[in-house]
Amino acid sequence: MLDVHQQFWNEWAEAYRGFSESVEAYRQAQRDLARLAVGAMGEDRKRGAISLLDVGGGAGNMISPLLDTLARQRGHLRGVIYTLTDAAKDMLALARARLGQLGKTYPDVEFRMLRVDTLADGFAAQIGGGPADVVVNSWNLEYYPTATRQELVDRLVRLAHPQGVVAFSSTVRLPPGMGFRDILMPIGRAQVFYGFLTGGRTKMDVAVNGLKQIAQFGTAATASHFPEKPTLLELQELGKRAGLKSVVATYQLFGASAMAVGRRDGAALPDPGHPEISKVLAGFPGYDGYPGTATFWSSFWGLWRGEQKRL
Ligand SMILES: C[S@@+](CC[C@H](N)C(=O)[O-])C[C@H]1O[C@@H](n2cnc3c(N)ncnc32)[C@H](O)[C@@H]1O
Repeated sequence: MLDVHQQFWNEWAEAYRGFSESVEAYRQAQRDLARLAVGAMGEDRKRGAISLLDVGGGAGNMISPLLDTLARQRGHLRGVIYTLTDAAKDMLALARARLGQLGKTYPDVEFRMLRVDTLADGFAAQIGGGPADVVVNSWNLEYYPTATRQELVDRLVRLAHPQGVVAFSSTVRLPPGMGFRDILMPIGRAQVFYGFLTGGRTKMDVAVNGLKQIAQFGTAATASHFPEKPTLLELQELGKRAGLKSVVATYQLFGASAMAVGRRDGAALPDPGHPEISKVLAGFPGYDGYPGTATFWSSFWGLWRGEQKRL
């Protein structure tokens, strides 16, 4: 990992964890990725011991979405080993700080948290533990140097069991003049408005804090030395070239992000669903007509519907 990136993630660890935990659209995107990844596992592999590998797992935001989904589908979490790796020490410290609570919430799961650079020589040997049933790499690829993206996905695929699943996500390239901040800010504002209406001052303050963190992180991430973001099609191609015989991909997070899930053995995969935004984003024309107000209202409506479902 480049020193400049190391420094970036150590500096932004708290803020990144903050908004990706408090902005509902982000949490939804994490749950969507988890549902697709766990849904792509074969039933026979779900029966035995299970190894989940969360590469570049940061502060551990994917832990609960993955384990909750697996517990729902499998009925229990016995025999599950969850390994999280990351190269940034402050990100890993946040993940390790969760261990006490994780031990109580998921007593049947064995957790391993390792400081490992995904691009380091001997990366797989440093992780150890044999092939994984599910390898997840969420919101990492866009932050690795462009020339190393294929190598990254190749490594993920090599870590997976021959009948295993590989799942990765990334924020994606947007039309000129648009940044992911332009999409995330209306989402954040919708949550502030929604918080005020449904939870008063306390819920609103949490949402305001999330919004501030998005604004600051969005500016910092754009200004720092990260490469151009990939497109959804590039994600799919990277997966295929790395040896995933079946791959599905779709947009998430209101078109600011995309996820790809594949299997080495080419087994059929669940339909990832295609949000309305996919039609607008295909080839970009008209995307500039996707105004912030649309993101605002669809986000607000999504929150409302989500809450209704939970009741
Ligand atoms: C946007 S965060 C995503 C974290 C987590 N996967 C999630 O979904 O919340 C990107 C993470 O990639 C990690 N990362 C970037 N380059 C890396 C590398 N070469 N090796 C290991 N981790 C890396 C950063 O330290 C950071 O924690």
